[in-house]
Amino acid sequence: MRLNSRNDKKTEGQIEKLLKKLTLDEKISMIHGAGLFQTGAVERLDIPSLRCSDGPMGVRNEFHNERWIPTGNHDDYVTYMPSNSALASTWNRELAYQSGYVLGEEARGRGKDVILAPGINIKRDPLCGRNFEYMSEDPKLAAALAVPFIKGVQENDVAACVKHFACNVQETDRLMVDTIVDERTLYEIYLPAFQAAVQEGGSYSVMGAYNMINGTHCCENKKLLDSILREEWGFDGTVISDWGAVHKTKQAAEVTMDVEMSVFPDFDDYKFANPLKEAIAKGEVEESAVDNKVRNILRMMFRLKMIGKEKDMRKAGVYNSPAHREIVLRTAEESMILLKNKENKLPLNRKKIKKIAVIGQNAAKIHSDGGGSAEIKALYEICPLMGMKMYLGGNTEVVYAPGYYVPEKPKTFSNNWQEKSLDELENSDIGLAVRREGEESPDVQERAEVFRKEEEEKAAQKENDNRLIHEKNVRLFEEALQIAKEADEVIFVGGLNHDFDSEGFDRSDMKLPYEQDMLIEKLLDVRKDAVIALIGGSPVEMPWRDKAETILWSYYAGMETGKAFARILFGEANPSGKLAETFPAAYDDCITAKNGQSGIRGSIRLSEGLYYGYRYFDKERIAPAFCFGHGLSFTKFVYKNLSIKQEKDGNKAVRVNLSVKNVGKLAGAEAVQVYITPITPKIDRPVKELKAFAKVKLQPGRTGKVTFILNRQDFACFDSENHAFTVDPGDYEILIGASSEDIRLRGICTLV
Ligand code: BGC
Repeated sequence: MRLNSRNDKKTEGQIEKLLKKLTLDEKISMIHGAGLFQTGAVERLDIPSLRCSDGPMGVRNEFHNERWIPTGNHDDYVTYMPSNSALASTWNRELAYQSGYVLGEEARGRGKDVILAPGINIKRDPLCGRNFEYMSEDPKLAAALAVPFIKGVQENDVAACVKHFACNVQETDRLMVDTIVDERTLYEIYLPAFQAAVQEGGSYSVMGAYNMINGTHCCENKKLLDSILREEWGFDGTVISDWGAVHKTKQAAEVTMDVEMSVFPDFDDYKFANPLKEAIAKGEVEESAVDNKVRNILRMMFRLKMIGKEKDMRKAGVYNSPAHREIVLRTAEESMILLKNKENKLPLNRKKIKKIAVIGQNAAKIHSDGGGSAEIKALYEICPLMGMKMYLGGNTEVVYAPGYYVPEKPKTFSNNWQEKSLDELENSDIGLAVRREGEESPDVQERAEVFRKEEEEKAAQKENDNRLIHEKNVRLFEEALQIAKEADEVIFVGGLNHDFDSEGFDRSDMKLPYEQDMLIEKLLDVRKDAVIALIGGSPVEMPWRDKAETILWSYYAGMETGKAFARILFGEANPSGKLAETFPAAYDDCITAKNGQSGIRGSIRLSEGLYYGYRYFDKERIAPAFCFGHGLSFTKFVYKNLSIKQEKDGNKAVRVNLSVKNVGKLAGAEAVQVYITPITPKIDRPVKELKAFAKVKLQPGRTGKVTFILNRQDFACFDSENHAFTVDPGDYEILIGASSEDIRLRGICTLV
C-alpha cells in the first residue's frame, strides 16, 4: 500500500491542501467518536463523518447515536452471514471473496463507510469466547481467507477494519490483560494474517485491540503500531481503536493510532478530544501528531470516494438481495463438517422415511441475535428443524422434542451490555485509576479482588442453573428417548449457543452444556444409528464419539443454516467443510490447560510459543478427537502423481504438482492441504506446518490437476536475534494431506 502511482501523489496533494484549511478543533473532531459509531464531520469543508458498523456476521442494527439502545426501527434487518469460523471451514478463497463482497455491499447499502470486520485473531485456546468470530488456529489459513474477504468488502467502497490487532487471545479481563509474547511467536503465529490483510488484502483500516502486549496497551503500542504496522508493513490507512481501548492521551496520540472510539456518550471527554487539546496547548503533544492522524483518515476517505472528485461515483450498495442469500447458502453448505460417517449413514434417503424424530434445542433455536457485537438483526434465520420440514414437506411426519433444558438468560444483557462492560471497569477502583491519567494501574492482586465477587456470583448462578437443568431434564430425556424409539430416523441437534460463544467472557470448560453428553449416551443406547449434529462456535468434548456412527458439525452458519443442514442430511449437497482448528479429545490435552487457559486475569504468558493447536498435538504425539483439516465427503478422493520441482525464479522455491481423482459416485469438493516438515532444522521447529491448500471440485470419475507454488518465505522461520525471517538451506519433506493427519503423498525438496 505504499504510494506510487500518479493518482496517489495527486491525492496526497489534496490531503495536504485540506489539512491546511482545517483548524485544530476541526481536526480534533475528526479523530474521535462523536457518536457511538461515528466520528465528527467538518461540514464547512465537505468532510463527512466516518460511519462505522459491526461486524463480521452482517451489518449490525442501528443504535441511537448517544445510547446503546437500538433505534428499534424496522429498516435494519439484514443478511445474516456465516461466522468467520464457518467461512474458514470452507477452505474456499472464492467464497471468502464473495462473503466479503456481500458484507461490503450490505454495509454500503446501509450507508456505512467502515465495516468492523473481519476478525482474524489466531485461536490459541478453544475456550476463548470469541473464537466463533475468528477464522483459524493456523496463520496461513487465516491469512489466505482474510485477503480475498477484505478485497470483496472494499470493492464496494467500504473499508474493512481487520480486528483485533493483535494477540487478543481471550475475553476475560480483555481491557487490561497483558499478553506476554516472544518475538518469534509474534511474527510466526500472531502477525502473519494481519500482515497479509494489510499488504495483500490492502485493508484500509485496522482495529487496535483492547489488551496489552508485553506491558503496553495495543492502542498505545509504539512497537506494534509504528514499527511493525507502519514501518515494516508500510500501512498508510487508518487505525481505529477498539471501543474504549485508549487509556492514555499522550501515549496514544504519539503513536500512529488515528481514531479513538468508545462506548460512552461523553464524547468531549474522550482522550482524543479535550484532553488532547489541552495536552497540545500545554506543549506536551505536538499538533503534527494530530495532522498525521487526519492524513490517514482523509486518505481512507479519498479511497472510499467519500470526498474528492470521484464522490459521485461511489457505489450505493444494496442489502437483503436474493443474490446475497444464495452466497450465504453456498457458504453454509460448504462450511458444515462431516466428522464421522460410519456405514455411510448419511445421506439419508427421504423416500424411506415416514417418521423422523428431531431432538435437541439447537434444532429449533436461532442464534443471530447473540454473541456480543457480532449480533445481527437477521431478515430471517432458518433453524435446522424448519430447514428439514421445508425440505421434507407434509408427507413425512417430523416429531420434535427439545431433549434438554436451557435456562433463560436475563434480557438485560442484550441492549447496553457494551457500555456496561466498560462502565463496570470505569466505576471500579481500577477504572478510576485508569481514568485519572498519570496514576499507576493498580496491581494484579487488587484487580483480582475486584473481580472475585463477580466470579462468586457467577458460580452461584451456575449452581442454581445446574440444579434446574437436572430437575427438568428427567422428563425431557424420557420424552426424547420415547420419540427416538418410534421413528425411522433420529437426528439430534445440540451443541452450544451464544451463552457460551460470546464476546466479553470465555468458557470455563470444553464440555457440552445442559447434560447433553448424558442424553446423547442414552440416545445412542436406544438408537445407535442416531445422527448426532452439533452447532457451536468452538470445539467441545465428545466423550461418546466412538459410540456414534455419524457426527456432523456446524459453526453458526447464517440465515440459511437450516436449509444447508437439510440439503446435506438428504444428499442434495455433498459436505466439503474441513476443520480450521483442532478438536481435542479433552480440554486437558491442550497446552493451554497447563499453560494458562483463557480465564486468567492480569497477564497471560504465551510460553508455549509456536506449540498450540496441531503444532502442539503433533509435538506431543497426542491424538485429538478430530484433527486440524479433517472433514469427510459422501464421495472418495484418490491422490496421486506427486512431482516436486525446484523453481529458479527469484522468490519461488518449489513447484508441487499432483492429481486428485473423485473415485466415488457423487460430485464433490476436496480441500487438498500442503504441509512442510524441515528434515534437519537448525532451530526448534514444528513437526509440520500448513503452507498451501486448494479446494478442488470434481464430478464423479474426474481427475483434477493441482499445482502449488511454494515461495522461499514458506520455508522461513523468524530469527529474533537478527529480527528477520531466514530460510535454512537443506531438505524439507512436502506432505500432501486430506487433513493434517491423513497424509496421502510425500516427497522431498532441497533448498539451497
Ligand atoms: C468489540 C469490537 C467491536 C466494537 C464495536 C468492541 O466491544 O471488541 O469487536 O467492533 O466493540 O461494537
